[in-house]
Amino acid sequence: MKVIITGAAGQLGQALRRVAPAEIGAVPLELIATSRSGGAGTIPLDLADAKACRALVQEHRPDWLINAGAYTAVDKAETEPELAQAVNAGAPAAFAQALQATGARLLQVSTDFVFNGAQGLPYRPDQPVDPLGVYGASKAAGERAAAVALAPDRLCILRTSWVYGPVGKNFLLTMLRLMREREQLGVVADQVGCPTATAGLAQACWAVLEQGVSGVHHWSDVGAASWYDFAVAIAELGKVAGLLENPARINPITTADYPTPAQRPSYSLLDCTATRQALQRSPLHWREALRQVIGDVVA
Ligand SMILES: NC(=O)c1ccc[n+]([C@@H]2O[C@H](COP(=O)([O-])OP(=O)(O)OC[C@H]3O[C@@H](n4cnc5c(N)ncnc54)[C@H](OP(=O)(O)O)[C@@H]3O)[C@@H](O)[C@H]2O)c1
Repeated sequence: MKVIITGAAGQLGQALRRVAPAEIGAVPLELIATSRSGGAGTIPLDLADAKACRALVQEHRPDWLINAGAYTAVDKAETEPELAQAVNAGAPAAFAQALQATGARLLQVSTDFVFNGAQGLPYRPDQPVDPLGVYGASKAAGERAAAVALAPDRLCILRTSWVYGPVGKNFLLTMLRLMREREQLGVVADQVGCPTATAGLAQACWAVLEQGVSGVHHWSDVGAASWYDFAVAIAELGKVAGLLENPARINPITTADYPTPAQRPSYSLLDCTATRQALQRSPLHWREALRQVIGDVVA
């Protein structure tokens, strides 16, 4: 089975390559990875170039394309809306159009930031989206564009939340650095979601292909946390693992204390019940997943 992965140099892209199965449905996996630069065994692809996205599919004629690449700079997107839109909506639209023509399937990775966070209950996949910022709006537009172009049984949209892993740019690695550099840190305690480790998310993506799942789905690790809870756990588990000798003291602050260009949902838990059943997978509790990722950082 031939599969294209975009964003192969990103957090999820790297994990997808790390945990790729040897075969899918007894058919050997042939993997084609793309990244912006084309380094480390990847083909160069600019996701803002819709023509190039279509040409990639036409040239390689994959069975599936996993679109893990995205414009993920949530705050910067507020001042670069055209670029965010081109990458997060233009690329999935172009992929979907080309895959519709070649008869193949798309796994479009999306985000909890398509929701406004106001309902105070975990979001089900069938609930209406209402993004608060440019990033969320561009990802929601990508979902819509893919659904317009591609037959429903050939599109899976997998939303996830608070992604982190042992490599890349993420909250865990930023916190580990700041906790070494500073004596005290204020971390937002009134935004609640669920941290999701890249390894489990990548395995869920491969399960989508293995099970031939379509429709809108939600995947995160188990449980709920504020950014403050997440930071406190990083300090505790980082110390146990020997990554932090004397971690900074973590103080809870409010969103109002830490203004950012983009407004974020205050409660963006995803209801993953149906997806766990469809994929026949049980994710880890986020704290256990964090312990494992910290183990990978140490190794
Ligand atoms: N990170 C999160 O907390 C989070 C939460 C929910 C959902 N998601 C979704 O999960 C997916 C994977 O995210 P991630 O955390 O792995 O993000 P990531 O680490 O930022 O990786 C995204 C990749 O896309 C690449 N990219 C951006 N613009 C590009 C362009 N114009 N052409 C080619 N490549 C481009 C980036 O390349 P450069 O490094 O060169 O920019 C990067 O390698 C995305 O769909 C994201 O929206 C992420």
